[in-house]
Amino acid sequence: MQSNKYIISAILLAATVACGTEPTPIYEATPDSLYKGSMYYASSEYNCKSCHGTAWDGNGPEAKALKEQGLEVPSFVDATAPEVTPVDYFKAMTIGTDNTRDLPSGHAYQSHTDRGRWAMAHYLYSLAPPLAAKDRAKRQEAIHKAMQEVEQAYASSRRWNMGYTPLKERPQAPRLEEMSGYNPAPAEE
Ligand code: HEC
Repeated sequence: MQSNKYIISAILLAATVACGTEPTPIYEATPDSLYKGSMYYASSEYNCKSCHGTAWDGNGPEAKALKEQGLEVPSFVDATAPEVTPVDYFKAMTIGTDNTRDLPSGHAYQSHTDRGRWAMAHYLYSLAPPLAAKDRAKRQEAIHKAMQEVEQAYASSRRWNMGYTPLKERPQAPRLEEMSGYNPAPAEE
């Protein structure tokens, strides 16, 4: 009887260790990632609030000027279509969208880690009101399908390369001195 107890405790210990060492994939929402996403969004350094607003409603201080240029900043607290998934949010802040190409940032926040962008994507996605019951199956299906692409992307890489080249890594324009005809006035002594 006594030895049985040891065996059971050994199995439990092994199971605990095994679970503890299996890391949660960075693209999955956890209480911790949602909390961090909220902190990133709120921090001035991330700058999201300047457009999306402190109330997440798309009414940040920069939103008005953008609207005048015909660019609407979306709200995160309004109902979303059943087909929309956190993957769409992640993509929007990773490579930007067709509508954000002309923003200085391109809305491609690749200086933040993938983990950080997933945290924000899930957090912002969680702010929308619950879906009507009739739409839930459609949403489940959309998420299931979208996550297959995500799993594949991270199966062989820690970073999801979506093909956007950050400004700093793009080919540099020639320096002024290297251009023909450049003839600076001699420096005054
Ligand atoms: C300069 C203004 C601006 C800033 C700063 C900005 N956004 Fe956006 N964001 C937009 C606009 C405009 C859109 C809508 C793009 C479109 O219509 O395709 C958008 C779209 C999004 C979307 C997709 C939402 C949807 O409904 O499809 C997400 C998610 C998002 N932003 C997150 C962020 C996060 C996170 C930050 C900070 C790291 C941020 N944004 C900073 C202007 C901004």
